[in-house]
Amino acid sequence: MMTNRDLESRVDTTDQWIVERTGIRERRIAAEGEATSDMAAEAARRALASAELDARDIDMIIVATVTPDMPLPSTAVFVQAKIGARNDCAAFDIAAACAGFCYALSIADKFVRAGAAKHVMVVGVELLSRVVDWSDRSTCVLFGDGAGAVVVSESRGDGRGILSTAIHADGSYASALRIPGGGSAEPASARTLELKRHFVEMNGREIFKVAVKNLSSASAAALTAAGVAADDLDWVVPHQANLRILEGVAERTGVPLTRFYLNLARYGNTSSASIPIALDEAVREGAIKAGQSVLFCALGGGVAWGSAVIRW
Ligand code: ACO
Repeated sequence: MMTNRDLESRVDTTDQWIVERTGIRERRIAAEGEATSDMAAEAARRALASAELDARDIDMIIVATVTPDMPLPSTAVFVQAKIGARNDCAAFDIAAACAGFCYALSIADKFVRAGAAKHVMVVGVELLSRVVDWSDRSTCVLFGDGAGAVVVSESRGDGRGILSTAIHADGSYASALRIPGGGSAEPASARTLELKRHFVEMNGREIFKVAVKNLSSASAAALTAAGVAADDLDWVVPHQANLRILEGVAERTGVPLTRFYLNLARYGNTSSASIPIALDEAVREGAIKAGQSVLFCALGGGVAWGSAVIRW
């Protein structure tokens, strides 16, 4: 665990600045030697236990991440081997930054509805501590490492499950949040290392504004598509990036902040992992109960954003 006080000794920042601007108090950092697929596999095993399924029941594994073990092969195939899934199930990664979980959930829902898969493992996992510049106070205070997973299965016909999903992107914001080095545009070299092109770069203000606007409209549209009125919604489990962004979304959608399940104070922004981590905590605490309606919404680099409404 790394607290804001720990960060005070690394960069020119204060606990007060971080709490006031973001709501974050501490974040988790993966152990040295731990890879993204290790955390993803652990989350997947716990999701299997909750769903009372065996790894061999899984037809498809989707891992949402922008911090894969390596560029090739996908992190999903490592997860497949680590959890002991069948060696002919589908496995692939989705790169939609903080919206990755919503994207993966939407894809899983479509495969299951089409009858092309019975049980899809959806993992959101991020090891951002490895791609953050720990000398850049404008980014390093924001992020944390984490993993969460759900299994999307065929409907039991009891009205519970995924009611609606929607995914979107606007590439005109592509440079607002990125890791420019290490891909085909800027292959890794001594020069890209020297220029710190392998670290997260962000225009925080630009992302902040588009996040409030797009998350609010996507949330309203998701509720309409699911036939759930804002007043009847039990919970919002949003991507946990910044408390002030969520205050803006609450104001614009008319869903009070008290109905947002928030845990970013303890984890920071874990990108595609934040929704499944918060969902897991909310369910285990008994906050989210069977039959309640829950809205997921997330926006991140791309910008890519998405939403879903489920009946738990
Ligand atoms: N500690 C102290 N001071 C800091 C720090 C820090 N950690 N970081 C920046 N500052 C300073 C800046 O240098 C600036 O100083 P100046 O006025 O002397 O130039 C001042 O604080 C204000 O900086 P801003 O960037 O304007 O601060 P802002 O109020 O916009 O807050 C923040 C920055 C928290 C990054 C905000 O823009 C934000 O949350 N944006 C959303 C970004 C985000 O969450 N991205 C994650 C991925 S996308 C997503 O998940 C939605």
